[in-house]
Amino acid sequence: MSILKGTRIALGVSGGIAAYKAADLASKLVQAGATVDVILTKHATEFIQPLTFQAITKQPVHTGVFEGWREDWFGHISLAHASQALLIAPATANTIAKLATGLADDMLSSVALASTAPLIIAPAMEHQMWRHPATQANLATLRARGATIVGPETGRLASGEFGDGRLVQPEFILGALRQVLGRNGALAGRKIVVSAGGTHEPLDPVRFLGNRSSGLMGYAIAQSAIDQGADVTLVSGPTLLKPPYGAHFVSIETADEMAGAVRDASERADVLIMAAAVADYRPAESRTSKIKKGDPDEPSVIELTRNPDILASIDRPGLVKIGFAAETDDLIANATDKLKRKGLAMIVANDAVKTIGSDLSTATFILPYGEPEELPMLRKDEVADAILDRVARLLNGSNP
Ligand code: C5P
Repeated sequence: MSILKGTRIALGVSGGIAAYKAADLASKLVQAGATVDVILTKHATEFIQPLTFQAITKQPVHTGVFEGWREDWFGHISLAHASQALLIAPATANTIAKLATGLADDMLSSVALASTAPLIIAPAMEHQMWRHPATQANLATLRARGATIVGPETGRLASGEFGDGRLVQPEFILGALRQVLGRNGALAGRKIVVSAGGTHEPLDPVRFLGNRSSGLMGYAIAQSAIDQGADVTLVSGPTLLKPPYGAHFVSIETADEMAGAVRDASERADVLIMAAAVADYRPAESRTSKIKKGDPDEPSVIELTRNPDILASIDRPGLVKIGFAAETDDLIANATDKLKRKGLAMIVANDAVKTIGSDLSTATFILPYGEPEELPMLRKDEVADAILDRVARLLNGSNP
């Protein structure tokens, strides 16, 4: 989450039962390296104590509008000017209405009015309040002014009823924040297609040939590209991961489906990054009924057919293609051969055994010219950041 490191974020918390979830959000922001100025409305303090946020953020928590002004601190004006983004979670119907009309009768609404920073709103309320035309009109006003509205989601509400109005998960709110902070980054205006995960090649309706890819590397690349402002399409095989906020997500199972989805998305793209572990082979026959022990045609051998090589087959002038080579032997020689064979701008070579399924990765960048560059063992999100930095430099024509 390097994009949040060193940022200063104002977190407004308004008075609904979901206010307690804002403590977790504040903690995640702090863990990601942000300085967090928490502003509680009076009603929020009925649900959660300022001390909770003070302990988490190690910063003063703001509740009243008339804080003492010092030479270097002008209350709501200073708060508004200091922050790179104003995040309001949970945002009640009342707070949303105040923001839409421009009222400034407490610290949070005053900061919002005095701020030119991007505004991200995560609403949470009973579903009748959410659906009320007044609330919807207020949200439309805020959206038209450029605010990002995240959620709410549908589920069990505090009243015990089921409906829309639940605060979205903190990861989702952080994802929206990352997208907003990154929108003027080095990849702004660029379209990037990323493939991730392994493919499943069916043998019958319940069985498949697959591999151990977790999807971590591709998902980290998609997130890192969003952090730098790119418009990202993530084409993914089955994984346990949640797609990053803001990615156009295409879920596929087989290599053939991945080939179609990647080809479609690449038509409008600047960059294609194939991090997926595409199965090289599929069963020559996929049965429509489950194979059973003792069937007269019980197979003793699985015959295989080659899948298309997606990366090699997509060749559009101007498309920057990045590939991966996970190898067990002769890493550099094998990866360099793939770089040439598939017409790539760069290949990321790594040790298959150390990398697959792990949070960490080795990586060596190989380009058609120059010496290979070996990164130290890093977390996959750090490798992803390094890859996207390279991609940005390749796109801008500067020599990496
Ligand atoms: O040839 P190999 O499978 O080792 O090449 C790996 C690179 O090629 C990866 O970037 C992978 O996503 C891509 N690939 C592909 N289509 C395949 C097999 C691999 O695009 N059928």
